[in-house]
Amino acid sequence: MNANLMDKIVALCKRRGFIFPGSEIYGGITGFWDYGPLGVELKNNIKREWWKSMVHQRDDVVGVDAAIIMNPEVWKASGHLEAFTDPLVECRVCHKRFKFDDNVEMSGHAEDELRKEKTAHMQLWTEPKVFNLLTEVFLGVTEPKQKAYLRGEITQGAFVNFENIVSSTRVKIPFGIAQIGKAFRNEITPGNFTFRSREFEQMELEFFVEAHEKEAERWFTKWKEERMKWYVSLGMDEKKLRFRKHADTELAHYAKAAEDIEYEAPFGWSEFEGIHNRGDWDLSRHKLNYKDEETGKEFTPWVIETSGGVDRSTLFFLIDSYFEDAKRVVLKLHPRLAPYKVAVFPLLANKPRLVEKAKKIFKDLSAHFVTVYDGRGNIGKRYFAQDEIGTPFCITVDFETLENDTVTIRDRDTMKQERIKTSGLVSFIGKKIL
Ligand code: GAP
Repeated sequence: MNANLMDKIVALCKRRGFIFPGSEIYGGITGFWDYGPLGVELKNNIKREWWKSMVHQRDDVVGVDAAIIMNPEVWKASGHLEAFTDPLVECRVCHKRFKFDDNVEMSGHAEDELRKEKTAHMQLWTEPKVFNLLTEVFLGVTEPKQKAYLRGEITQGAFVNFENIVSSTRVKIPFGIAQIGKAFRNEITPGNFTFRSREFEQMELEFFVEAHEKEAERWFTKWKEERMKWYVSLGMDEKKLRFRKHADTELAHYAKAAEDIEYEAPFGWSEFEGIHNRGDWDLSRHKLNYKDEETGKEFTPWVIETSGGVDRSTLFFLIDSYFEDAKRVVLKLHPRLAPYKVAVFPLLANKPRLVEKAKKIFKDLSAHFVTVYDGRGNIGKRYFAQDEIGTPFCITVDFETLENDTVTIRDRDTMKQERIKTSGLVSFIGKKIL
């Protein structure tokens, strides 16, 4: 494991306000993380790009935003009460608890460090005990309180609204329902920073197709390709991405087939999106059908699902974009993902006319792009600070600006500077970013 890189990412996230340990002033809480000012921008940009490509740029997908807590009957019908479980073992030597899996030594995709720790005293494990991953909550103020669950996958919110969506929109099979939202799992071993958390966000598409093996396979392949392309289009290194097909023995209870998109993280190849053929599992369990208005044919559609993790994508975009040399640390984030698109500096912070002009440019640009004003330290330090958080452009207002209304604009990746008219800034930056 490249522990060094992981340590650097964790430290940068804390130092620069991307990700903080949850409830840190009370000693933290395992498996929960808070996103700081830059983290929330990055995460929102990832979600916005996903929504744009999955909903706005398609005519066959609509969105939904379902409640986190649903009638517990949903989880009975979906099979999660029975089958959404992990087996847990305890090591009799170090008393650590681990998720038990048969192929713990061989699995090339598990997180390496954890695997080493886990296998150290394998012969002395207790027998595996099975635990459900759903998080219980209790509703109401009088006893007995009503037991419910925080959703373990956002997915079911799309299925329970299937009829509402078909009747309130003009969707026709094949079509999809997209959703982004929080999910909760009582993970036995949270770890690897945000990778395995107990509260996390998912971005999912449930795509409904004709009930035929061949049709489902066609869409499964199509969605696999689309999803891989999306990560690459936002700058993720293709060489660090791969698909991994699930063996029959590891398929989730709802899946007929599944392939993960994995990233080569410092802790080993790791899943951050799953493409699943859920067949008619969910709709038939919820007793839901689709009626074709033209033909009158009624059937239970099959579902192809793309289920991505927002937090894991955020982590892998951060890791993938990290670059350092002797002089600087740079997050080479795609401009559409970068928290700030542009930073504006006065050359000297003690010259009121430079400050006034820089603040005016900041105000004008912030109507178009997420912009930051920085007047601290010297120019070198400001460039260093903006590179480290991935800001693609830095604008400096100097004495020449006061004479001819031009500024220098510096490119994060090439470090080249150009002098341009302030009136051309929006179109210059817009062309490179949008
Ligand atoms: N609806 C299908 C589903 O939930 P999954 O493979 O269990 O499938 C999908 O989860 C994605 O959700 C994963 O690829 C991962 O990105 C994210 N995810 C799952 N468990 C997670 C956890 N404990 N922490 C962070 N992300 C998680």
